[in-house]
Amino acid sequence: MTDAVAATKPVQSVAGAQAAKQVQGGTTTDKPYLKISGVVKKFGEHVAVDHVDLEIRQHEIFALLGSSGCGKSTLLRMLAGMDSPTSGKIILDGQDIVGLEPYERPVNMMFQSYALFPHMTVAQNIAFGLKQDKLPKDEIAARVDVMLDLVQMRKYASRKPHQLSGGQQQRVALARSLAKRPKLLLLDEPLGALDKKLRQETQLELANTIEKVGVTCIMVTHDQEEAMTMADRIGIMSEGRLLQVGSPTDIYEYPNCRFTAEFIGESNMFEGSVTVDEADRVEITSAELGGVVSVDHGITGPKGMHVWASIRPEDVRLDRKPVPAGPNMAAGVVENIAYMGSYSIYHIKLASGKVVKTVVPSSRWYDAGETAPTWGDQVYVSWRTDAPVILTM
Ligand SMILES: Nc1ncnc2c1ncn2[C@@H]1O[C@H](COP(=O)(O)OP(=O)(O)OP(=O)(O)O)[C@@H](O)[C@H]1O
Ligand SMILES: [Mg+2]
Repeated sequence: MTDAVAATKPVQSVAGAQAAKQVQGGTTTDKPYLKISGVVKKFGEHVAVDHVDLEIRQHEIFALLGSSGCGKSTLLRMLAGMDSPTSGKIILDGQDIVGLEPYERPVNMMFQSYALFPHMTVAQNIAFGLKQDKLPKDEIAARVDVMLDLVQMRKYASRKPHQLSGGQQQRVALARSLAKRPKLLLLDEPLGALDKKLRQETQLELANTIEKVGVTCIMVTHDQEEAMTMADRIGIMSEGRLLQVGSPTDIYEYPNCRFTAEFIGESNMFEGSVTVDEADRVEITSAELGGVVSVDHGITGPKGMHVWASIRPEDVRLDRKPVPAGPNMAAGVVENIAYMGSYSIYHIKLASGKVVKTVVPSSRWYDAGETAPTWGDQVYVSWRTDAPVILTM
């Protein structure tokens, strides 16, 4: 890491994407459009969704993120009306929708595996839901027309799904969902069927299309990059509970628990106990570090309180020469190096056996007039007092 970069808390690439989104999506209002209160879903004894409270603003793109089986699809299915909550309330645009059948709800869901009708053309697929709703013919034609342009599929209007690429099929599925002009669009792993590269290309395009239409959207994914790229806000779910809700930047910079810190991005977690607690300085003594983590912000808790200090790998500085003894540093040995081209990920083993990960730009050593450390070398890790986030659970 160059000195200039190390001197400020790094601005994540997500922050840039987020700033761009805020300009585009400037119409978001603060009034909740969708209000989920105390929603519980049990399957027998198993609690799949556990007292979820969530407010979504109109025109917002909200991503539900969590590992497999944490209850994401179940929550969406309750919004769509395919499952009913065991208890709790769901209010959409002032209307209680819990008792409504799926077709009575102004909600459209695009499934984890969106199956297009293979025998229908692109245009017919888009028109399908509108025909079912018995809209007038010219209204259907007009809406299909708008959708074909929106997802840039006009050229392919008369093709069948098997004559389209995966990305094109995904766009048709989206057009089919949007054609009905739902108040709420639910996307369950919308890009799950695409390979990694196509998925990345499609993420921004999909978010732009949703924003252009101005539909309020909840999407489910277990891909954190996808959530970071597409969503205005993210909700982190684990075992049926919503652990944290915030902007991508908030969630990354200020995780509120170990689960979030380790689920979103990478984190070095040092277990320890509070030994100093002053207004502008908290110190945690950690056997794993073999020293003290000093933070210029954070919790106030009693001395001896059991906590964790989370430090992002890109905030950890790596040096060959000894750094001054004190808090926020440790000596270690290079155990592993993953060379990624423009940067490397170093695994540094401390005396306690704890391994610290650090992201080091390849220019770091060149700029310092040094050669890069290699396996077995003695090195020093350190970080600034604003880098650690203190977590109590
Ligand atoms: N109809 C059902 N009957 C019984 N258990 C169910 C039912 N549907 C879901 N579950 C259970 O509820 C939990 C949550 O399932 P859900 O499908 O919501 O997970 P998910 O977060 O969408 O996971 P994934 O990322 O794998 O799609 C799981 O443990 C699942 O086995
Ligand atoms: Mg699911």
